[in-house]
Amino acid sequence: MSPPVTPKIAFGGDYNPEQWPDHVWDQDYRLFDAARFDTVTLGVFDWALIQPALDVYDFTLLDRIVERAAAEGRAICLATGTGAHPAWLARAYPEVTRTDFEGRRHRFGQRHNSCPSSPVFRRLSAELARRMARRYGGHPAVIAWHIGNEYGGACYCELCAAGFRQWLRERYGSLEALNAAWYTTFWAHTFGDWDEIEPPSALTEHWRGPDHTAFQGITLDYRRFMSDAMLANFRDEKAAIRETCPDVPVTTNFMGLYQPIDYHRWAPHLDFASWDNYPPDDTARVRMALAHDLMRGLKDGQPFWVMEQTPSTTASRDVNPLKRPGVMRLWSWQAVAHGADAVLFFQLRASRGACEKYHGAVIGHAGRGDTRVFREVAQLGAEFARLGGTVLGARTPARVALLFDWDSWWAVEMTDGLSRLVRYQQVVQAYYTALWDAGVDVDVVPVTAGLDGYDVVVAPLLHMVKGDLAQRLEEVAARGGSVVTTFLSGRVDEDDNAFLTDVPGPLGPLTGVRVDEWDARGPDFVNPVRLRDTGPDSGSQIEPEIEPEIEVESRLFFEIVIPAGAETVGTYTADFYAGTPAVTRNAFGAGHGWYVAAGLDQRGVSWVVRRVLDHHGIELRYPDVQDLETAVRVTPAGDRILFLLNHRNEAIEVTAERDGVELFTKSRVRAGEPVKIEACGVLLVQEDM
Ligand code: GLA
Ligand code: ZN
Repeated sequence: MSPPVTPKIAFGGDYNPEQWPDHVWDQDYRLFDAARFDTVTLGVFDWALIQPALDVYDFTLLDRIVERAAAEGRAICLATGTGAHPAWLARAYPEVTRTDFEGRRHRFGQRHNSCPSSPVFRRLSAELARRMARRYGGHPAVIAWHIGNEYGGACYCELCAAGFRQWLRERYGSLEALNAAWYTTFWAHTFGDWDEIEPPSALTEHWRGPDHTAFQGITLDYRRFMSDAMLANFRDEKAAIRETCPDVPVTTNFMGLYQPIDYHRWAPHLDFASWDNYPPDDTARVRMALAHDLMRGLKDGQPFWVMEQTPSTTASRDVNPLKRPGVMRLWSWQAVAHGADAVLFFQLRASRGACEKYHGAVIGHAGRGDTRVFREVAQLGAEFARLGGTVLGARTPARVALLFDWDSWWAVEMTDGLSRLVRYQQVVQAYYTALWDAGVDVDVVPVTAGLDGYDVVVAPLLHMVKGDLAQRLEEVAARGGSVVTTFLSGRVDEDDNAFLTDVPGPLGPLTGVRVDEWDARGPDFVNPVRLRDTGPDSGSQIEPEIEPEIEVESRLFFEIVIPAGAETVGTYTADFYAGTPAVTRNAFGAGHGWYVAAGLDQRGVSWVVRRVLDHHGIELRYPDVQDLETAVRVTPAGDRILFLLNHRNEAIEVTAERDGVELFTKSRVRAGEPVKIEACGVLLVQEDM
């Protein structure tokens, strides 16, 4: 099923009229008109309201809320309301609350607080979704279902322990297989009965928190299980909705680069992806772009929704900086540029009490429409209205894929003996930054994705190599593509057991290297690396020229590589391994396998990535214009829309590369002529066909 059908980019957000008397609703809808909000997300935390007691369901207020929204012409994204359970439920059935990593059974409080394995929670959450669907599923205003809210965290209770054992039976079939996968001969862990297996927690396998475990295999499986247990909750509700409501697309709001949940395991069960974009501060533009691309990659490049973003500030951080003038607009367009077909806020009106009363809102406590924030929101609403349906359903024409893998993320960060300073997200982001700076479109995809359409596949920290992945990467190179991978790749199989071969394991033939040993150092230790390419296309095909030879820094992790067919492109210059390869390129079939053996600085990573892009003649868009982000979407009708996003506080002028029409002003853009993008500005250019 495809994403909700809307006439334009959906605009609006989380709205909680249940917190307010009717005259406030009147005021809200007048302001929603002014902001051109067309979509409201309703009922995200309404469980206690709708079901005040076990046998009582009362839809009186929600009926009025839904009717009012519909009468006001709004489309509704309707939540099932199960993101927080009611107090009576926790009192009547203490098992619905979670047990934490330290083994403490929680009592009623907070939200996102239900044990995913609790039969009572599963039954009652599905029942709530079922009744919601029966009542509102046929309502023409309801265009999407929002199940639960920001699934996450973990539970370590007895019910989860039992669920884990069942999950393990299904995964392994026998204790022999499980013992082999977990390598339990080590430290006398051989299990002779399924009931001997405990969830890995502070009371069992862990010390110093969730990333320090004696058995990576057990902890990895628990994370996979928890991810699946919460997914089962989502699926319970979805199935209950589908009993009476077959056609309305279903989603849940993800959180981008959120470590605890493997969104790739979830993606097939969502009809469309959506996520909540709350960057920590205003330096997060590349990270946001990466997260958007990751979310778009969940459903094969299909457009996604930004379910939540703040119009101004967050509330949950120690310091909650304000989005400066123009930034909310810029970041909203950035989302659209990367494939969003909806831009929604949390929250439309500020709550009066509790922990989010100072969270940014379109309408503040005084109910004014003449604030800066409101004016900027309304201006954006007018722009979306003017753009109409132009970009809806448009796809990103990427020739580059970046592989992202939760298993590798989990494994590399919970493993002793490497370096706790090497962080998966940072390495991934360095490679993504190189692509972002170069101005190329990137699909961020799971390791199971089809790779046929890509010229370049970048796989940073591909620690775990699962299934037929090595073979599929070889196919990319064999047909002339380039694969780039890095240190700490090709180390373990799906069970997190080391390959009994030279490193990088199954990536050896493709990369043409053997890693003999490795060194990890503190953050201040630098081994300079000399990068020099004398290969067949060392004279670059595309502008700008790549420096033929540079010296960069490498830090944190240094693999000592013995070429086994690969040519050396970068060389360490210090320590006992000075003069040995730090970056290699291996001819494989008609293409190449690159291996970056050290933690290169950004300049080094970018140099490698530029060489690879250059080899494939991939067009770079304004690669050396700092702070200018570009993205392309191709509409279902085949129109190419170029987004130019200026993240700088002053205007940027560039030379247009193609003829087209600027969509806000309808003015002509001519190749070779200057184009000016105002400070924090955005231009959309529909390129001539
Ligand atoms: C999340 C939640 C919302 C709200 C916001 C605040 O995204 O889904 O309910 O708490 O954070 O930033
Ligand atoms: Zn539990």
